[in-house]
Amino acid sequence: PETHIALDRSDRVAPIDRRIFGAFVEHLGRCVYDGLYEPGHPTANEDGFRLDVVELVKELGATTIRYPGGNFVSGFRWEDSVGPREQRPVRRDLAWHSLETNQVGLDEFSRWLKLTGSELMLAVNLGTRGIDEALDLLEYANHPSGTALSDQRIANGTPDPHGIRMWCLGNEMDGPWQTGYMTADDYGKLAARTAAAMKMADKDLELVACGSSGSGMPTFGDWERIVLEHAYDHVDFISAHAYYQERGGDLGSFLASSVDMQYFIDTVVAAADHVGSKRKSAKKIAISFDEWNVWYLDEHQASDEVNDEWRIAPRQLEDVYSVADAVVVGNLLITLLKNHDRVRSASLAQLVNVIAPIMTEPGGASWRQTTFFPFSVTSRLARGEVLRPTVRTGVYETATHGTADLVDAVATHDAATGQSAVFLVNRSLTETETVTIDVRDLGATEVREALSLFDEDVYAKNTLADPERVGLRANTTAALADGVLTVELPPVSWTALSLA
Ligand code: AHR
Repeated sequence: PETHIALDRSDRVAPIDRRIFGAFVEHLGRCVYDGLYEPGHPTANEDGFRLDVVELVKELGATTIRYPGGNFVSGFRWEDSVGPREQRPVRRDLAWHSLETNQVGLDEFSRWLKLTGSELMLAVNLGTRGIDEALDLLEYANHPSGTALSDQRIANGTPDPHGIRMWCLGNEMDGPWQTGYMTADDYGKLAARTAAAMKMADKDLELVACGSSGSGMPTFGDWERIVLEHAYDHVDFISAHAYYQERGGDLGSFLASSVDMQYFIDTVVAAADHVGSKRKSAKKIAISFDEWNVWYLDEHQASDEVNDEWRIAPRQLEDVYSVADAVVVGNLLITLLKNHDRVRSASLAQLVNVIAPIMTEPGGASWRQTTFFPFSVTSRLARGEVLRPTVRTGVYETATHGTADLVDAVATHDAATGQSAVFLVNRSLTETETVTIDVRDLGATEVREALSLFDEDVYAKNTLADPERVGLRANTTAALADGVLTVELPPVSWTALSLA
Protein backbone atom coordinates (compact mmCIF):
# COMPACT_ATOMS: atom_id res chain seq x y z
CA PRO A 1 0.00 0.00 0.00
CA GLU A 2 1.10 3.52 -0.75
CA THR A 3 0.48 6.88 0.85
CA HIS A 4 1.21 10.22 -0.82
CA ILE A 5 1.78 13.35 1.23
CA ALA A 6 2.28 16.91 0.01
CA LEU A 7 3.70 19.68 2.19
CA ASP A 8 3.20 23.34 1.47
CA ARG A 9 4.56 26.14 3.66
CA SER A 10 1.39 28.17 3.11
CA ASP A 11 -0.76 25.45 4.78
CA ARG A 12 0.02 26.81 8.23
CA VAL A 13 -1.81 25.67 11.36
CA ALA A 14 -0.09 27.85 13.96
CA PRO A 15 3.29 28.88 15.38
CA ILE A 16 4.39 26.31 17.94
CA ASP A 17 3.79 27.25 21.56
CA ARG A 18 6.09 25.02 23.62
CA ARG A 19 3.24 24.58 26.11
CA ILE A 20 1.86 21.91 23.77
CA PHE A 21 4.60 19.63 25.19
CA GLY A 22 3.49 19.96 28.81
CA ALA A 23 3.05 17.18 31.36
CA PHE A 24 1.26 16.64 34.65
CA VAL A 25 2.45 15.93 38.18
CA GLU A 26 -0.25 14.95 40.68
CA HIS A 27 0.08 14.01 44.33
CA LEU A 28 -1.02 10.49 43.47
CA GLY A 29 0.62 7.14 44.12
CA ARG A 30 4.38 7.34 43.57
CA CYS A 31 4.43 10.30 41.19
CA VAL A 32 5.86 12.77 43.74
CA TYR A 33 6.88 10.61 46.74
CA ASP A 34 9.20 7.75 45.72
CA GLY A 35 9.10 9.22 42.20
CA LEU A 36 10.60 12.62 41.56
CA TYR A 37 11.20 13.09 45.34
CA GLU A 38 13.14 10.51 47.31
CA PRO A 39 15.49 11.83 49.99
CA GLY A 40 18.14 9.21 50.59
CA HIS A 41 18.27 8.08 46.98
CA PRO A 42 21.91 8.09 45.75
CA THR A 43 21.08 10.79 43.16
CA ALA A 44 18.96 13.00 45.48
CA ASN A 45 19.94 16.65 45.89
CA GLU A 46 19.68 18.68 49.12
CA ASP A 47 15.91 19.11 48.55
CA GLY A 48 15.43 15.35 48.19
CA PHE A 49 14.82 15.44 44.42
CA ARG A 50 16.21 12.62 42.32
CA LEU A 51 18.57 14.06 39.74
CA ASP A 52 18.37 10.96 37.54
CA VAL A 53 14.64 11.74 37.16
CA VAL A 54 15.42 15.40 36.47
CA GLU A 55 17.70 14.33 33.60
CA LEU A 56 14.98 12.10 32.13
CA VAL A 57 12.40 14.91 32.37
CA LYS A 58 14.80 17.18 30.49
CA GLU A 59 15.37 14.53 27.84
CA LEU A 60 11.62 14.02 27.56
CA GLY A 61 11.30 17.72 26.70
CA ALA A 62 8.34 18.35 28.99
CA THR A 63 7.64 22.07 29.16
CA THR A 64 4.73 23.33 31.28
CA ILE A 65 3.89 21.08 34.24
CA ARG A 66 0.35 21.02 35.61
CA TYR A 67 0.32 20.56 39.42
CA PRO A 68 -0.76 19.35 42.05
CA GLY A 69 -3.83 17.57 40.59
CA GLY A 70 -6.00 16.10 39.26
CA ASN A 71 -8.63 14.69 41.54
CA PHE A 72 -6.24 15.32 44.44
CA VAL A 73 -6.56 19.10 44.16
CA SER A 74 -10.30 19.04 44.86
CA GLY A 75 -9.70 18.24 48.53
CA PHE A 76 -6.32 19.94 48.94
CA ARG A 77 -5.53 22.69 51.44
CA TRP A 78 -2.50 24.42 49.98
CA GLU A 79 -1.56 25.96 53.35
CA ASP A 80 -0.73 22.47 54.65
CA SER A 81 2.15 22.15 52.21
CA VAL A 82 4.15 25.33 52.94
CA GLY A 83 6.31 26.40 55.88
CA PRO A 84 8.50 24.27 58.17
CA ARG A 85 8.25 20.68 57.01
CA GLU A 86 8.15 19.19 60.50
CA GLN A 87 4.98 21.18 61.22
CA ARG A 88 3.10 20.13 58.10
CA PRO A 89 0.08 17.95 58.82
CA VAL A 90 -0.56 14.51 57.39
CA ARG A 91 -4.00 14.49 55.76
CA ARG A 92 -6.28 11.96 54.15
CA ASP A 93 -6.50 12.28 50.37
CA LEU A 94 -10.04 11.14 49.62
CA ALA A 95 -9.53 11.09 45.86
CA TRP A 96 -6.93 8.31 45.93
CA HIS A 97 -7.66 6.97 49.41
CA SER A 98 -4.12 7.54 50.64
CA LEU A 99 -2.16 9.69 53.08
CA GLU A 100 -0.61 13.00 52.04
CA THR A 101 2.42 13.97 54.12
CA ASN A 102 2.74 17.44 52.55
CA GLN A 103 6.52 17.14 52.49
CA VAL A 104 6.48 18.54 48.96
CA GLY A 105 4.48 21.70 48.33
CA LEU A 106 4.46 24.72 46.07
CA ASP A 107 7.84 26.11 47.19
CA GLU A 108 9.68 22.79 46.86
CA PHE A 109 8.00 21.94 43.58
CA SER A 110 8.98 25.32 42.14
CA ARG A 111 12.58 24.55 43.01
CA TRP A 112 12.26 21.21 41.20
CA LEU A 113 10.91 23.03 38.13
CA LYS A 114 14.02 25.21 38.09
CA LEU A 115 16.08 22.01 37.76
CA THR A 116 14.01 20.77 34.82
CA GLY A 117 13.57 24.21 33.22
CA SER A 118 9.77 23.82 33.11
CA GLU A 119 6.95 26.31 33.66
CA LEU A 120 4.39 25.77 36.44
CA MET A 121 0.66 25.57 35.69
CA LEU A 122 -1.07 25.59 39.06
CA ALA A 123 -4.53 24.25 39.86
CA VAL A 124 -6.73 25.73 42.62
CA ASN A 125 -9.24 23.72 44.61
CA LEU A 126 -12.81 24.54 43.58
CA GLY A 127 -14.17 21.25 44.91
CA THR A 128 -14.16 21.86 48.67
CA ARG A 129 -12.97 25.47 48.54
CA GLY A 130 -13.69 28.72 46.73
CA ILE A 131 -12.73 32.25 45.76
CA ASP A 132 -11.07 33.19 49.03
CA GLU A 133 -8.63 30.30 49.07
CA ALA A 134 -7.80 30.77 45.38
CA LEU A 135 -7.00 34.43 46.04
CA ASP A 136 -4.89 33.50 49.06
CA LEU A 137 -2.87 31.04 47.02
CA LEU A 138 -2.41 33.64 44.28
CA GLU A 139 -1.17 36.17 46.84
CA TYR A 140 1.20 33.65 48.42
CA ALA A 141 2.56 32.55 45.06
CA ASN A 142 2.77 35.73 43.01
CA HIS A 143 2.69 38.86 45.18
CA PRO A 144 6.23 40.29 45.53
CA SER A 145 6.21 41.29 49.23
CA GLY A 146 4.63 43.46 51.90
CA THR A 147 1.39 41.51 52.38
CA ALA A 148 0.60 38.85 54.94
CA LEU A 149 0.86 35.89 52.56
CA SER A 150 3.73 37.12 50.38
CA ASP A 151 5.72 37.83 53.54
CA GLN A 152 4.88 34.34 54.75
CA ARG A 153 6.34 32.93 51.52
CA ILE A 154 9.48 35.01 52.05
CA ALA A 155 9.74 33.83 55.66
CA ASN A 156 9.39 30.27 54.35
CA GLY A 157 12.55 30.74 52.30
CA THR A 158 11.24 31.83 48.88
CA PRO A 159 12.09 35.53 48.47
CA ASP A 160 11.10 35.84 44.81
CA PRO A 161 7.48 35.44 43.74
CA HIS A 162 6.79 32.31 41.71
CA GLY A 163 5.29 34.35 38.86
CA ILE A 164 2.78 31.66 37.87
CA ARG A 165 0.91 32.72 34.71
CA MET A 166 -1.38 29.78 34.00
CA TRP A 167 -3.99 28.62 36.53
CA CYS A 168 -6.58 25.83 36.39
CA LEU A 169 -9.93 26.65 38.00
CA GLY A 170 -10.47 23.28 39.67
CA ASN A 171 -10.35 19.84 38.10
CA GLU A 172 -12.95 17.69 36.30
CA MET A 173 -15.86 19.33 38.08
CA ASP A 174 -18.26 17.45 35.75
CA GLY A 175 -17.28 14.06 37.21
CA PRO A 176 -19.33 12.43 40.00
CA TRP A 177 -16.03 10.98 41.32
CA GLN A 178 -14.74 14.51 41.96
CA THR A 179 -14.84 15.78 45.56
CA GLY A 180 -17.45 18.55 45.40
CA TYR A 181 -18.50 17.92 41.77
CA MET A 182 -21.12 20.30 40.40
CA THR A 183 -23.60 20.94 37.66
CA ALA A 184 -22.35 22.97 34.71
CA ASP A 185 -24.46 25.89 35.86
CA ASP A 186 -23.05 25.89 39.41
CA TYR A 187 -19.49 25.39 38.24
CA GLY A 188 -19.79 28.02 35.49
CA LYS A 189 -20.85 30.62 38.07
CA LEU A 190 -18.08 29.66 40.49
CA ALA A 191 -15.44 29.60 37.74
CA ALA A 192 -16.57 33.00 36.43
CA ARG A 193 -16.49 34.61 39.88
CA THR A 194 -13.17 33.04 40.83
CA ALA A 195 -11.61 34.03 37.50
CA ALA A 196 -12.93 37.59 37.73
CA ALA A 197 -11.52 37.97 41.25
CA MET A 198 -8.13 36.50 40.30
CA LYS A 199 -7.91 38.89 37.34
CA MET A 200 -8.66 41.82 39.68
CA ALA A 201 -5.39 40.86 41.34
CA ASP A 202 -3.53 40.33 38.05
CA LYS A 203 -5.23 40.94 34.69
CA ASP A 204 -2.49 39.09 32.79
CA LEU A 205 -3.16 35.66 34.30
CA GLU A 206 -4.16 32.91 31.87
CA LEU A 207 -7.07 31.00 33.34
CA VAL A 208 -8.37 27.56 32.42
CA ALA A 209 -11.99 26.61 33.11
CA CYS A 210 -12.77 22.91 33.52
CA GLY A 211 -14.21 21.32 30.42
CA SER A 212 -15.35 17.72 30.16
CA SER A 213 -13.39 14.84 31.64
CA GLY A 214 -14.07 12.72 28.57
CA SER A 215 -16.00 12.74 25.30
CA GLY A 216 -18.18 9.95 26.75
CA MET A 217 -19.52 12.10 29.59
CA PRO A 218 -23.32 12.48 29.40
CA THR A 219 -22.95 16.26 29.65
CA PHE A 220 -20.20 16.50 26.99
CA GLY A 221 -20.72 19.56 24.76
CA ASP A 222 -23.46 21.05 26.89
CA TRP A 223 -21.03 21.33 29.78
CA GLU A 224 -18.63 23.49 27.76
CA ARG A 225 -21.47 25.65 26.42
CA ILE A 226 -23.03 26.29 29.82
CA VAL A 227 -19.73 26.89 31.63
CA LEU A 228 -18.62 29.34 28.95
CA GLU A 229 -21.97 31.13 28.95
CA HIS A 230 -21.00 32.13 32.50
CA ALA A 231 -17.24 32.41 32.24
CA TYR A 232 -16.46 33.38 28.62
CA ASP A 233 -15.24 36.90 29.37
CA HIS A 234 -13.08 35.86 32.31
CA VAL A 235 -11.22 32.77 31.14
CA ASP A 236 -8.76 32.09 28.35
CA PHE A 237 -8.85 28.30 28.05
CA ILE A 238 -11.31 25.47 28.48
CA SER A 239 -9.74 22.14 29.46
CA ALA A 240 -10.11 18.75 27.79
CA HIS A 241 -9.17 15.35 29.23
CA ALA A 242 -8.96 12.10 27.25
CA TYR A 243 -7.56 8.66 28.01
CA TYR A 244 -7.51 5.70 25.66
CA GLN A 245 -6.91 1.99 26.04
CA GLU A 246 -7.15 -1.19 24.00
CA ARG A 247 -10.33 -3.09 24.83
CA GLY A 248 -11.24 -6.69 24.08
CA GLY A 249 -8.19 -7.28 21.90
CA ASP A 250 -9.39 -4.72 19.31
CA LEU A 251 -6.02 -3.21 18.41
CA GLY A 252 -7.35 -1.63 15.19
CA SER A 253 -9.84 0.53 17.10
CA PHE A 254 -7.25 1.42 19.72
CA LEU A 255 -4.78 2.57 17.06
CA ALA A 256 -7.50 4.93 15.75
CA SER A 257 -7.94 6.65 19.16
CA SER A 258 -7.00 9.96 17.54
CA VAL A 259 -10.33 9.92 15.70
CA ASP A 260 -12.01 10.39 19.07
CA MET A 261 -9.54 13.09 20.10
CA GLN A 262 -10.35 14.95 16.87
CA TYR A 263 -14.10 14.62 17.58
CA PHE A 264 -13.46 15.91 21.11
CA ILE A 265 -11.59 18.99 19.85
CA ASP A 266 -14.15 19.72 17.10
CA THR A 267 -17.02 19.55 19.59
CA VAL A 268 -15.36 21.83 22.15
CA VAL A 269 -14.41 24.36 19.46
CA ALA A 270 -18.01 24.32 18.16
CA ALA A 271 -19.43 24.85 21.67
CA ALA A 272 -16.96 27.63 22.51
CA ASP A 273 -17.44 29.43 19.20
CA HIS A 274 -21.21 29.12 19.51
CA VAL A 275 -21.05 31.01 22.81
CA GLY A 276 -18.54 33.51 21.42
CA SER A 277 -20.67 34.19 18.32
CA LYS A 278 -23.82 34.73 20.38
CA ARG A 279 -21.91 37.25 22.48
CA LYS A 280 -20.48 38.90 19.33
CA SER A 281 -17.12 38.44 21.04
CA ALA A 282 -13.88 38.97 19.14
CA LYS A 283 -12.18 36.67 21.65
CA LYS A 284 -11.55 32.98 20.93
CA ILE A 285 -11.30 30.46 23.76
CA ALA A 286 -8.33 28.10 23.43
CA ILE A 287 -8.25 24.47 24.54
CA SER A 288 -5.89 23.30 27.26
CA PHE A 289 -5.74 19.54 26.64
CA ASP A 290 -4.34 19.17 30.12
CA GLU A 291 -4.77 15.43 30.59
CA TRP A 292 -4.17 13.03 27.71
CA ASN A 293 -2.58 9.60 27.49
CA VAL A 294 -3.12 5.87 27.24
CA TRP A 295 -4.50 4.59 30.55
CA TYR A 296 -5.74 1.04 31.29
CA LEU A 297 -8.49 2.50 33.45
CA ASP A 298 -10.89 -0.47 33.17
CA GLU A 299 -8.29 -2.77 34.74
CA HIS A 300 -7.49 -0.30 37.53
CA GLN A 301 -11.18 0.17 38.34
CA ALA A 302 -11.59 -3.60 38.58
CA SER A 303 -8.69 -3.85 41.05
CA ASP A 304 -8.66 -2.86 44.72
CA GLU A 305 -5.52 -0.74 44.51
CA VAL A 306 -7.35 2.50 45.38
CA ASN A 307 -9.88 1.42 48.02
CA ASP A 308 -7.30 -0.18 50.23
CA GLU A 309 -6.02 0.87 53.65
CA TRP A 310 -4.68 4.45 54.09
CA ARG A 311 -1.09 4.36 52.83
CA ILE A 312 1.61 6.86 51.92
CA ALA A 313 2.58 6.80 48.23
CA PRO A 314 1.08 3.40 47.34
CA ARG A 315 1.71 1.89 43.93
CA GLN A 316 -1.29 3.14 41.98
CA LEU A 317 -1.99 3.43 38.25
CA GLU A 318 1.48 2.11 37.32
CA ASP A 319 0.67 1.13 33.75
CA VAL A 320 3.49 -0.54 31.82
CA TYR A 321 3.29 0.61 28.22
CA SER A 322 3.74 -1.39 25.04
CA VAL A 323 4.95 -0.49 21.56
CA ALA A 324 1.30 -0.21 20.45
CA ASP A 325 0.61 2.20 23.33
CA ALA A 326 3.56 4.33 22.23
CA VAL A 327 2.28 4.44 18.64
CA VAL A 328 -1.05 5.73 19.98
CA VAL A 329 0.73 8.33 22.14
CA GLY A 330 2.70 9.48 19.08
CA ASN A 331 -0.53 9.70 17.11
CA LEU A 332 -2.30 11.70 19.83
CA LEU A 333 0.59 14.19 19.71
CA ILE A 334 0.17 14.41 15.93
CA THR A 335 -3.51 15.24 16.51
CA LEU A 336 -2.70 17.90 19.12
CA LEU A 337 -0.28 19.52 16.67
CA LYS A 338 -2.78 19.34 13.79
CA ASN A 339 -5.17 21.32 15.98
CA HIS A 340 -2.59 23.67 17.42
CA ASP A 341 -4.50 26.72 16.21
CA ARG A 342 -7.04 25.95 18.96
CA VAL A 343 -5.22 23.53 21.28
CA ARG A 344 -2.61 25.95 22.60
CA SER A 345 -1.55 23.97 25.64
CA ALA A 346 -1.47 20.27 26.57
CA SER A 347 -0.23 18.03 29.36
CA LEU A 348 0.70 14.39 29.02
CA ALA A 349 -0.82 12.75 32.10
CA GLN A 350 1.27 12.02 33.98
CA LEU A 351 5.07 12.30 34.31
CA VAL A 352 6.59 9.83 36.80
CA ASN A 353 5.37 6.31 37.81
CA VAL A 354 1.64 7.10 37.56
CA ILE A 355 0.52 6.40 33.94
CA ALA A 356 3.89 7.86 33.09
CA PRO A 357 6.69 7.87 30.51
CA ILE A 358 9.29 7.72 33.33
CA MET A 359 9.47 4.94 35.94
CA THR A 360 11.53 4.67 39.11
CA GLU A 361 12.35 2.11 41.78
CA PRO A 362 12.92 3.31 45.36
CA GLY A 363 16.66 3.38 45.98
CA GLY A 364 17.22 2.07 42.48
CA ALA A 365 16.93 2.68 38.78
CA SER A 366 14.86 4.99 36.63
CA TRP A 367 13.95 4.15 33.05
CA ARG A 368 12.05 5.19 29.93
CA GLN A 369 8.73 3.58 29.06
CA THR A 370 7.93 3.04 25.36
CA THR A 371 5.74 6.16 25.38
CA PHE A 372 8.75 8.28 26.33
CA PHE A 373 10.20 8.06 22.82
CA PRO A 374 7.54 9.64 20.57
CA PHE A 375 7.07 12.43 23.11
CA SER A 376 10.76 13.27 23.49
CA VAL A 377 11.49 13.18 19.77
CA THR A 378 8.43 15.26 18.84
CA SER A 379 9.26 17.83 21.52
CA ARG A 380 12.84 18.02 20.24
CA LEU A 381 12.16 18.19 16.50
CA ALA A 382 8.88 20.15 16.23
CA ARG A 383 10.04 23.75 15.77
CA GLY A 384 8.76 26.89 14.09
CA GLU A 385 5.20 26.41 12.91
CA VAL A 386 2.89 23.49 12.32
CA LEU A 387 1.98 22.69 8.71
CA ARG A 388 -1.12 20.79 7.69
CA PRO A 389 -0.11 18.09 5.21
CA THR A 390 -2.32 16.85 2.39
CA VAL A 391 -2.46 13.09 2.93
CA ARG A 392 -3.78 10.55 0.39
CA THR A 393 -3.89 7.18 2.11
CA GLY A 394 -5.99 4.05 2.44
CA VAL A 395 -8.62 3.48 5.10
CA TYR A 396 -9.78 0.65 7.35
CA GLU A 397 -12.93 -0.04 9.35
CA THR A 398 -12.92 0.07 13.13
CA ALA A 399 -15.59 -1.12 15.57
CA THR A 400 -15.25 1.96 17.76
CA HIS A 401 -14.24 4.88 15.56
CA GLY A 402 -15.79 4.11 12.15
CA THR A 403 -13.59 4.48 9.09
CA ALA A 404 -10.01 5.48 9.92
CA ASP A 405 -7.01 6.46 7.79
CA LEU A 406 -4.15 3.98 7.67
CA VAL A 407 -1.53 6.71 7.83
CA ASP A 408 -1.76 9.90 9.86
CA ALA A 409 0.82 12.68 9.71
CA VAL A 410 1.74 16.24 10.61
CA ALA A 411 4.73 18.44 9.74
CA THR A 412 6.57 21.42 11.17
CA HIS A 413 8.79 24.01 9.50
CA ASP A 414 11.15 26.49 11.08
CA ALA A 415 11.75 29.43 8.73
CA ALA A 416 14.61 30.68 10.94
CA THR A 417 16.73 27.54 10.50
CA GLY A 418 15.17 26.12 7.33
CA GLN A 419 14.65 22.83 9.15
CA SER A 420 11.49 20.75 8.92
CA ALA A 421 10.11 17.64 10.56
CA VAL A 422 7.45 15.12 9.64
CA PHE A 423 5.74 12.83 12.16
CA LEU A 424 3.83 9.78 10.93
CA VAL A 425 2.02 6.68 12.13
CA ASN A 426 1.10 3.54 10.25
CA ARG A 427 -1.98 1.98 11.87
CA SER A 428 -2.01 -1.12 9.68
CA LEU A 429 -1.71 -4.30 11.75
CA THR A 430 -0.06 -6.25 8.94
CA GLU A 431 1.21 -4.12 6.06
CA THR A 432 4.28 -1.99 5.58
CA GLU A 433 3.26 1.34 4.05
CA THR A 434 5.41 3.03 1.41
CA VAL A 435 5.07 6.79 1.84
CA THR A 436 6.17 9.45 -0.63
CA ILE A 437 6.34 13.03 0.64
CA ASP A 438 6.61 15.99 -1.72
CA VAL A 439 8.96 18.32 0.18
CA ARG A 440 9.90 20.66 -2.71
CA ASP A 441 8.11 23.63 -1.18
CA LEU A 442 10.13 23.20 2.04
CA GLY A 443 13.39 23.39 0.08
CA ALA A 444 14.58 20.25 1.89
CA THR A 445 17.46 18.37 0.34
CA GLU A 446 18.65 16.11 3.14
CA VAL A 447 17.21 13.66 5.71
CA ARG A 448 19.09 14.42 8.91
CA GLU A 449 17.35 11.89 11.11
CA ALA A 450 14.84 9.13 10.48
CA LEU A 451 13.66 7.37 13.64
CA SER A 452 10.94 4.75 14.01
CA LEU A 453 9.34 2.92 16.89
CA PHE A 454 8.06 -0.57 16.06
CA ASP A 455 8.66 -4.16 17.06
CA GLU A 456 7.90 -7.67 15.89
CA ASP A 457 6.01 -7.92 19.19
CA VAL A 458 3.66 -4.92 19.37
CA TYR A 459 3.13 -5.68 23.07
CA ALA A 460 6.85 -5.51 23.94
CA LYS A 461 7.51 -3.29 26.98
CA ASN A 462 10.35 -1.82 29.02
CA THR A 463 10.47 -3.07 32.60
CA LEU A 464 12.77 -2.88 35.61
CA ALA A 465 14.20 -6.27 34.60
CA ASP A 466 14.61 -5.27 30.94
CA PRO A 467 14.52 -1.45 30.80
CA GLU A 468 15.87 -1.13 27.26
CA ARG A 469 13.87 -3.85 25.54
CA VAL A 470 12.15 -1.23 23.33
CA GLY A 471 13.82 1.83 21.84
CA LEU A 472 14.00 4.00 18.75
CA ARG A 473 15.44 2.48 15.60
CA ALA A 474 17.08 4.27 12.69
CA ASN A 475 14.75 4.00 9.69
CA THR A 476 17.26 3.24 6.95
CA THR A 477 14.62 3.27 4.20
CA ALA A 478 14.24 7.07 4.26
CA ALA A 479 15.66 8.66 1.10
CA LEU A 480 15.25 12.10 -0.45
CA ALA A 481 15.84 12.82 -4.14
CA ASP A 482 14.52 15.59 -6.42
CA GLY A 483 12.27 16.99 -3.71
CA VAL A 484 10.54 13.69 -3.00
CA LEU A 485 11.13 11.79 0.20
CA THR A 486 10.36 8.09 0.31
CA VAL A 487 10.09 6.09 3.51
CA GLU A 488 8.74 2.69 4.53
CA LEU A 489 6.57 2.56 7.64
CA PRO A 490 6.41 -0.88 9.32
CA PRO A 491 3.01 -2.10 10.59
CA VAL A 492 1.95 -0.50 13.91
CA SER A 493 4.72 2.08 13.88
CA TRP A 494 5.52 5.70 14.69
CA THR A 495 8.16 7.62 12.72
CA ALA A 496 9.87 11.02 12.86
CA LEU A 497 11.85 12.55 10.01
CA SER A 498 14.08 15.58 10.42
CA LEU A 499 14.86 17.42 7.17
CA ALA A 500 17.20 20.24 6.19
O1 AHR B 1 -4.56 11.44 35.79
C1 AHR B 1 -5.31 10.64 36.67
C2 AHR B 1 -6.67 11.25 36.98
O2 AHR B 1 -7.43 11.27 35.81
C3 AHR B 1 -6.68 12.68 37.44
O3 AHR B 1 -6.49 12.82 38.81
C4 AHR B 1 -8.07 13.12 37.09
O4 AHR B 1 -8.14 14.49 36.79
C5 AHR B 1 -8.45 12.24 35.92
O5 AHR B 1 -9.67 11.63 36.10
